Amino acid sequence: MTKISWKPGTMIYPLPAVMVSCGTSEEGFNIITVSWTGTICTDPAMCYISVRPERHSYDIIKRNGEFVINLTTRKLAFATDWCGVRSGTDFDKFKETGLTPVAATIVKAPLISESPLNIECKVKDIVELGSHHMFISEVVAVNVNEELVDKNSGVYRLDKSNLLCYSHGKYYDIGKYIGRFGFSVKKEKTERTDKPKKENKRRPA
Ligand SMILES: Cc1cc2nc3c(=O)[nH]c(=O)nc-3n(C[C@H](O)[C@H](O)[C@H](O)COP(=O)(O)O)c2cc1C
Repeated sequence: MTKISWKPGTMIYPLPAVMVSCGTSEEGFNIITVSWTGTICTDPAMCYISVRPERHSYDIIKRNGEFVINLTTRKLAFATDWCGVRSGTDFDKFKETGLTPVAATIVKAPLISESPLNIECKVKDIVELGSHHMFISEVVAVNVNEELVDKNSGVYRLDKSNLLCYSHGKYYDIGKYIGRFGFSVKKEKTERTDKPKKENKRRPA
């Protein structure tokens, strides 16, 4: 395979496109769409969002030291895009999108009711990287939709919520199911010849 070498750039894809809700009172609530986000530690549960200082949401998050990451779905694609191209300086994004703010359990920022999973975060550190400042944050609560919890197993069926992906400027929903974590080393009925000798029992990162 012949490779072409490009100058440095941001090409880690696919990513989620999440809606981050912020603000402490209804008049001041805002939503910003963010793709520069991810998990950075399992215990304590920590994540980050990277936001440009010129965003309306930047000052709100910096001032209050908290926000909520709301996962998005195919159904929420329009609102996700809209909140990523319009500013809270000019619009009340909850009003314009019809999304519903509901009280979170710990932080003052609202959850977006229509999102299947809401992650309440408290900012621990702000790293001024350049174009974006990274809010390194602790997850203080996770809220899930009751109807997505399987009544028999208690398992949260996030796979049934049609999560949204963002890849190189385009939105997609999640494609076909391929396998569970660890499927590559799982014992199979028929012996595989290329199988490593020891079974790897590592847990997810
Ligand atoms: C898919 C998508 C991903 C985005 N990711 C980020 C991001 O990670 N960080 C950021 O600062 N802005 C990001 N933006 C841009 C902001 O969402 C956008 O500038 C928004 O209008 C800011 O809203 P605000 O001014 O109300 O805070 C993204 C936009 C879209 C559509």
